[in-house]
Amino acid sequence: MPHYLINGGKRLDGTVEISPAKNAVLPIMCASLMIRGKTLIKDCPRLGDVMVMCDILKGFGAKTTFTPQGLLINAENINTSEIDGALAGKIRASFFLVGALISRLKWADCPMPGGCKIGTRPIDIHLAGLKALGVEISVLDSRILFDAKNAKSSRVRLRYPSVGATENLIMAAVFLKGDTYIENCATEPEIKDLVEFLNIAGAKIYGGGTRFIRVCGVENLTENIEYKPIPDRIETGTFLLATYLLGGKVYLKGANAENIFYLIKNTPNNSCKIYARYVNIYEKGIYIVAKGEPISFGSIVCAPYPLFPTDLQPILGAVAAASKGITKITETVFDSRFLYLEELFKMGAKFSLKDNTATIVGAPLFGTTVEAKDLRGGAALVLAGLKASGKTKVLGAENVMRGYLDFDKKLTALGADITLID
Ligand code: EPZ
Repeated sequence: MPHYLINGGKRLDGTVEISPAKNAVLPIMCASLMIRGKTLIKDCPRLGDVMVMCDILKGFGAKTTFTPQGLLINAENINTSEIDGALAGKIRASFFLVGALISRLKWADCPMPGGCKIGTRPIDIHLAGLKALGVEISVLDSRILFDAKNAKSSRVRLRYPSVGATENLIMAAVFLKGDTYIENCATEPEIKDLVEFLNIAGAKIYGGGTRFIRVCGVENLTENIEYKPIPDRIETGTFLLATYLLGGKVYLKGANAENIFYLIKNTPNNSCKIYARYVNIYEKGIYIVAKGEPISFGSIVCAPYPLFPTDLQPILGAVAAASKGITKITETVFDSRFLYLEELFKMGAKFSLKDNTATIVGAPLFGTTVEAKDLRGGAALVLAGLKASGKTKVLGAENVMRGYLDFDKKLTALGADITLID
């Protein structure tokens, strides 16, 4: 099984190129099913989750090819709307295919969704929204059938701003005659990116990235769209926090500071300066200079965008474990996202957990063998290993590779001592 071998204590210096966002690429791959032809997702990262989604798309009869420009998807001939159960169980985003499938084929046959072990992953918000659009839903033992032949535009209000449910409902409404209104939408930048992609393909969607989205139905979408998704704000935050933790001067090429502004604004600036730089009008970037030992972030609450992103919560936990002072982290999005703390404990982390709040007291960490149980928890363990004294082995590297392209190579290029052992 792939694992990382790390020698801690090195600072980071140099330039890292931020990849297109996993959580923008995946819904756009789903949306490509709505286009009866080719779609090019430019510079698409070959992440674990992307490869699984490619296999799922091929199962419908689509063709997926990585070219030097990116991922070329041809969805001209879709011959089934049954989502492969084994593959769907690997990634939560497989459930986001439902909206695209019922738009294209008026029918979807979907297994219960999978994804990281970060708590119960209910789908009630998705189902309530689709029902409000007139989709008939039959829940079988391990599969759910969606019949959209009588679906119609309507007004839908989400009980909670779910990212995936917002994306599913947008895709489900694109071809419905009339106007569909979706209220209390998630406002994550990846949703605005999905809307941008669909509108370039001819959809008429207004308010992407806001709480209130209006979808005016169109007949079909244009093929041969070439689209570059937004840079990954969670990868950006991961490298910002890694540099803060280890010290150094790093330029994050292509990073979009406004999408990670809450982290930038709340990073203690006693010995750390972060500049959102525009090298030129074509290239965005963030420059971070971190000197001295990191200090605690104080109290941070993880919540839907634009507040502190839940996907950076484990990474912040690792930084807190090795920073001077006490950090309180409250997780309001998922009900079980502190599993990584058990592994950090093996490295000397000091913390207590009460309900959905972790209180972490900074302490010196020492290297040992730990296991990545999920994507972001795994990234947290890598950062802890980079800071710890001695050697750290992080098992379960495949979990980290689901969402970080060439994580070891990018860190090595910055001066870290990390090797991926396949
Ligand atoms: C997306 O997951 C992301 N995944 C997650 O990133 C991210 O953590 C999450 O949004 C929140 O920002 C992708 O985009 C592929 P939600 P999603 O629906 O859509 C509850 C990563 O590490 N909920 O916004 O599944 C749910 O249990 C991954 O890249 C319901 O109760 O998240 C959770 O507590 C992890 N019923 C909360 O809402 C529903 O029907 C937020 O979930 C749907 C969700």
